[in-house]
Amino acid sequence: MSTSLLIRGASQIVTVGGRAPRRGQALADVAVLRDGAILLLDGMISAVGPAAKVEKLKESKSAELLDLDGRVVLPGFVDSHTHLIHAASRVEEYELKIQGVGYEEIARKGGGILNSVGKLRTTSSEDLKARAQLFLERFAEHGTTTIEAKSGYGLDLTSELRILSLHKELSAEQPIEIVSTFLGAHVVPAEYRNKASGTGDYLKLLEQELLPEVAENGLAEYCDVFCERRAFSVAESRQVLEAGKKHGLRPRVHAEQLSNTGATDLGVRLGAASCDHLEYLKPADIRALAKSNTVATLLPGCDFHLGLKQYAPARKLIEAGAIVALATDFNPGTSPTLSMPMVLALACTQLRMTPAEAIAAATINASYSLGRHRKVGSIEAGKQADLAVFEVADYREIPYYFGVNTCWLTMKRGEVIHMRD
Ligand code: NIG
Ligand code: FE
Repeated sequence: MSTSLLIRGASQIVTVGGRAPRRGQALADVAVLRDGAILLLDGMISAVGPAAKVEKLKESKSAELLDLDGRVVLPGFVDSHTHLIHAASRVEEYELKIQGVGYEEIARKGGGILNSVGKLRTTSSEDLKARAQLFLERFAEHGTTTIEAKSGYGLDLTSELRILSLHKELSAEQPIEIVSTFLGAHVVPAEYRNKASGTGDYLKLLEQELLPEVAENGLAEYCDVFCERRAFSVAESRQVLEAGKKHGLRPRVHAEQLSNTGATDLGVRLGAASCDHLEYLKPADIRALAKSNTVATLLPGCDFHLGLKQYAPARKLIEAGAIVALATDFNPGTSPTLSMPMVLALACTQLRMTPAEAIAAATINASYSLGRHRKVGSIEAGKQADLAVFEVADYREIPYYFGVNTCWLTMKRGEVIHMRD
């Protein structure tokens, strides 16, 4: 039996309909409908437009009704950069950071990513899964309906495969779609650090054992690398990303987060789906991104959490015509938030993006960076019914009420996955 639902009574339907991806001035054109209605059929958007028109459709007559009573509807957020699977918080490092100890200094002393790696390796897959399930429910509570998730806290064959297998299992068992990325090149693990050939040996393991296994079992679509001082150089990153490409994994890059390394240039040359962070971009990097289809994914949650003053040059990127996306970078070290509404608030006040630009960056452009823009990221006929409804009268109030989650209802493929009581 087919199911149909007619959604009406919204003060605004922020459709973000139109050409994807959005560049330049088009980023702010989120195509808001007032007095609109949305008709859902079998989990898909069948029609969206003026209420008078949509309500006249034959299928609308027999549809169940959902009256939004003046609330605002958005496409479900697409969070295109997360480190979903991790074993524990690093709250002890949070206190050190507040006292002024730097992120890299903590990492040098054995904290940081290696701290999370140690914890993950001794945590069972059942426990990791239970923890991730709770996070996925929280993503839904904040209006997120699709996420990307990276491995990278395992850094050995068994642990990396455990993480990636959990992405697959969780994506099949709960409503939020998880797009899986292999981040074996997060940092060089401790057991490879004592010898001069350590990095080379670890890269060999990545190329000869991990990548073939990941690809053969269809465990990831993307291959990512943390290109940064004390992580991987541009040459090492190129080696990993090219090896990933040979196995059919498209590159993504953690680029220019703490310093300018040339990672963006590398990402663009390799046709990366996305270069992420970008706090230390050079003018030539901005030009290269603007000319490319590589998405510039900005993660202001990191700078906020680490108390750093240098945010990514969002305005320059938008003005140059780059495809700008926003994501949480949910992870225990640099950005322990899974709230896209909070990321929108940071984008507005710190990156100087308008609320409209931030919403397009967190929906259609993010979905483009995951190759999902034909399915999700806007409210248009033919797309999946992935929607987020907010308890506000104007979409600009979503970032305006910063730190407050105004999400009232979230829908994935037409199913309600969160509703505030
Ligand atoms: O995206 N920069 C590298 N990776 C993560 C941080 C990981 C961690 O500190 O645990 C990031 O910021
Ligand atoms: Fe990250």
